Amino acid sequence: MLRSEKICVRFGGLVAVDHVSLTVEEGTIHAIIGPNGAGKTTFFNTISGAEKPAEGKVFFRDEDITGLPPHRIAEKGIGRTFQNIKLFNSMSVLENVLCGMHLNVRSNIVQDMLGMSFQRREERELLEKCESLLKQVGLYDKRDLKANNLPYGEQRKLEIVRAMATDASLLMLDEPAAGMNPTETRELMQFIRKINDEGLTILLIEHDVRMVMTLADKITVLDHGIKIAEGSAEDVRHDANVIEAYLGKSYRGAVDV
Ligand SMILES: Nc1ncnc2c1ncn2[C@@H]1O[C@H](COP(=O)(O)OP(=O)(O)OP(=O)(O)O)[C@@H](O)[C@H]1O
Ligand SMILES: [Mg+2]
Repeated sequence: MLRSEKICVRFGGLVAVDHVSLTVEEGTIHAIIGPNGAGKTTFFNTISGAEKPAEGKVFFRDEDITGLPPHRIAEKGIGRTFQNIKLFNSMSVLENVLCGMHLNVRSNIVQDMLGMSFQRREERELLEKCESLLKQVGLYDKRDLKANNLPYGEQRKLEIVRAMATDASLLMLDEPAAGMNPTETRELMQFIRKINDEGLTILLIEHDVRMVMTLADKITVLDHGIKIAEGSAEDVRHDANVIEAYLGKSYRGAVDV
């Protein structure tokens, strides 16, 4: 579904991503792990169009999307969330999801839609779709709250829903469990598994190793911008380079969700 070929990103003298090639298979949960500064977010930024690679190519469904602007890439069906939550804090929960849908609207009507009467069929359908997404994640009852009044875990969920609202078929999540308590993390894992079961392909950056080992079909490990290992959870957790660079020896294995 997604293929990067020898992606390189440099910031001055620093090589943040160093010839990284990887293939994300449709329908899978594919995780990218590695220590701080390994280049994980920079790799995401290159896929989503926020960063242009100095070298290398990105293909989505065999189409070369290298260097396209972010909105064009989003239109093709790649949604993402951010390491630091980026919601429209003064807008309601529902309005945040409507903004995510903006991409699917033939005319630029989101601004008109906010706070008005949803007369037209197209508008009503969008509203119903947003509401149905919010019901799926248990945020429907909070649809009129301002985004920044949600607890942290729910803000993360809302950001995921907003990314899904673009009709994404590939969803890239950058540390979705960061700052979550164990209950929120478990709920998030169940949610990610559910949307994956329903057909969304997931590319996941996460430091919660148990979450990654539990969910991921395939794991790519980056260190200093370089891909040092790739494979199933079992392959990766026994890889001497990965233990040395990242996992340490105390990792305890997957959990049931
Ligand atoms: N815009 C930028 N300008 C200069 N250097 C940058 C920029 N963005 C990232 N870097 C550097 O590139 C390297 C990779 O950063 P990146 O944020 O991709 O790492 P990461 O794997 O996501 O780390 P973390 O786990 O801490 O989020 C780091 O050394 C970082 O300081
Ligand atoms: Mg990062």
